[in-house]
Amino acid sequence: MQISTTPSDAAVPDERLAGILAEPGFGTHFTDHMFTVEWTPEKGWYDARITPYGPLTLDPATAVLHYAQETFEGMKAYRHADGSVWTFRPEANADRMVRSSHRLALPVLPADEFVQAVDALVQVDQRWVPDASAPGAGEKSLYLRPFMFASEVFLGVRPSQHVTFMVIASPAGSYFKGGAKPVSLWLTEEYSRAGRGGMGAAKTGGNYASSLVAQQEAIGHGCDQVVFLDAEEGRYVEELGGMNMYFVHQDGSIVTPATGTILEGITRSSIIDLAGKLGHRVEERRISIDEWRDGIASGAITEVFACGTAAVVTPVGRLLSRSGEVPSATGDDEGGPVTATIRQALVDIQYGRADDTFGWMHRVV
Ligand code: PLP
Ligand code: COI
Repeated sequence: MQISTTPSDAAVPDERLAGILAEPGFGTHFTDHMFTVEWTPEKGWYDARITPYGPLTLDPATAVLHYAQETFEGMKAYRHADGSVWTFRPEANADRMVRSSHRLALPVLPADEFVQAVDALVQVDQRWVPDASAPGAGEKSLYLRPFMFASEVFLGVRPSQHVTFMVIASPAGSYFKGGAKPVSLWLTEEYSRAGRGGMGAAKTGGNYASSLVAQQEAIGHGCDQVVFLDAEEGRYVEELGGMNMYFVHQDGSIVTPATGTILEGITRSSIIDLAGKLGHRVEERRISIDEWRDGIASGAITEVFACGTAAVVTPVGRLLSRSGEVPSATGDDEGGPVTATIRQALVDIQYGRADDTFGWMHRVV
């Protein structure tokens, strides 16, 4: 893919950038450039370009605004102590976007072109990748958001004949205000995230739109995130609005809900490998809400945690629902030792402090 680059003449000045990188928050500041490539059935992917970051002008009849035909990805670029910049398993994000796009009847962007697009943006905006090696700098990174949408101006309901793929980037600190403190969860018994044959395994905006009312309910009950159960029986734990889940058992095994209707997280899959290496037996299977409740009561479940690109590995505290409360396995102030060990093993690889034995890191700069 040939990529043209137009430098930004309104790049954020160094002094202001230093302030942003000191306290990046999540998803509020955007880098100086963005990547765009377009597609039609006749031309395939064409006009790949990096241009100054800025608003899009969209016709009000642009299909995505009406029928939500879109997919997206979430990944991060990390700066290592020697100044080099790396992404984590970018081919896995590329492959997942292919699967999501298939479900949304969007065209395939080949994995190597996806990675090339992300690399090109990170290279141009490399000064936006925070330095996480300074004492007290915390775990900061550059969050990358590739996305693909139906850009045809047409109100008929059929797959769009004009599609746009873009990548934007945003410096990121901790997703939750409490940092690595346990998050509290609200169990929704009214809303489902995904059903058989639905879009649960796809990373598409509609899944997040449908989670918002339940997330709003969670916030209304003083909780950080919402937990969804399976749509058929309302019994089995699926995932949170934007994270996968893990349950640590007293016997050392760790359980994560099986795939099918959940978003197959790249963090989730990396933890399967990491936890195995750390000596845990990892089970991908159904886990019911009763098993969660009873496991905490009996002590069979010793830790619960959530994981994802934005959330990294975050301990889960108490679970609230209309039918009562399941207390935190580890108290309200801290997570457990297995959660902490897995988190450390993962971030040490991402920040280049541990050997990349799985070959997950991809050098960009
Ligand atoms: N589940 C949902 C619904 C998500 O939005 C995410 C975040 O991307 C995840 C799980 C975790 O996926 P990953 O680890 O690939 O970020
Ligand atoms: C991510 O972790 O990349 C996501 O897309 C989840 C969202 C909560 C930001």
